[in-house]
Amino acid sequence: MINVAVLGYGTIGAGVVQVLQTNVESIAKNAGQPIVVKRILDLREFPGDPNEKLVVHDYNIIKEDEDIQIVVECMGGLNPAYTFVKTALEQGRSVATSNKELVAKYGAELIATARANACNFLFEASVGGGIPLIRPLTSCLTADVIQEITGILNGTTNYMLTKMGEEGRAFEDVLKEAQERGYAELHPEADVEGYDACRKIAILTSLISGYQVNFEDIHTEGITHITAEDFRYAKAMNSGIKLLAKSWKKDGNNYAMVAPMLVGHDHPLYAVRDVFNAIFVHGNMVDDIMFYGKGAGKLPTASAVVSDVVESAKALGVNHRIFWSPEKLSLQSLAKCEGRYFVRMDKEVSPEDIEESFGPVDYISVDGIDETAFVTGIMTEGSYRRAAASLGHVIQMIRVYSKS
Ligand code: HSE
Repeated sequence: MINVAVLGYGTIGAGVVQVLQTNVESIAKNAGQPIVVKRILDLREFPGDPNEKLVVHDYNIIKEDEDIQIVVECMGGLNPAYTFVKTALEQGRSVATSNKELVAKYGAELIATARANACNFLFEASVGGGIPLIRPLTSCLTADVIQEITGILNGTTNYMLTKMGEEGRAFEDVLKEAQERGYAELHPEADVEGYDACRKIAILTSLISGYQVNFEDIHTEGITHITAEDFRYAKAMNSGIKLLAKSWKKDGNNYAMVAPMLVGHDHPLYAVRDVFNAIFVHGNMVDDIMFYGKGAGKLPTASAVVSDVVESAKALGVNHRIFWSPEKLSLQSLAKCEGRYFVRMDKEVSPEDIEESFGPVDYISVDGIDETAFVTGIMTEGSYRRAAASLGHVIQMIRVYSKS
């Protein structure tokens, strides 16, 4: 029998306990022995909860309990999660976490600590919720050089953009609904400003490159400036608007960004609605693949965490190598990346001035919107910015997604 301690009895921690206690038999079969929740760490009391007797308030009780072999961290935030996880790994206990903030900042260090102590630091749930993604990247796709990962990595904003686009509903209204459904972060800016997706693409970029990517280096835009008019234009272009987290390699340079982008109806990411996430991957051998599923929510996320617990149980005393060096990866300036840009401008700007600044463009019009809108040809982001700044009058710019 393997004993597990769960740190944090919030939505995900409670989900982990529920999964372990619901699928007892199948989990025991997969792990080779039963897995039991022995302790739960939380500052709160849970009167009436069937697991209330397992709850402790002091981490030292877990630290000193020699029967505990695996620790699950679902507290969120950097501290004290980092200290508890580091301590557990130093004791040779494998750790499974859903905490993307922790993984984005300390992933390389905690992987090295696990390696030094013959245990594992696993974080399947930190990106893409219930979608198997980290293990495929670190196991199944190791024959490839991954040249692009583009993901819809935030369920809350995908839910919001879907509802705004399809039902014409207001931003605040759909945000509230996503929060009620348990998708959203504690602070909604983390979702709507793109910070959550930024940490997730930082983790993925670190994994595919093998080097540390600091999330602060990734250009990040959220969805707060997206309007009903943008969706009307998108529809006219047979496209959707998705918050994409994109990481790619071109001519030996690494790029990454998070921003709302127009996605054409012929790309599989276009069809990803509601709370679903999807991660499009292009490898130099496997070509295009896509992972799809629920990227947020109690049980999908808990399912991924528990799969890491099972992996840890199967590998007691053995470290499975994940290559993520603490050496920093330099990201190329976005000014050098090439793309096309959908631009809305005041209608007083003449087509001659537009084409002099941006070169040839494709105009888009929508009934009842009295402005000039167009899609540029391929240009560097630096050239776009210079043209937009010199001409002025830009109401909105949304990048047009294309495969790199
Ligand atoms: N707030 C996150 C989301 C939760 O909406 O995707 C999962 O990381």
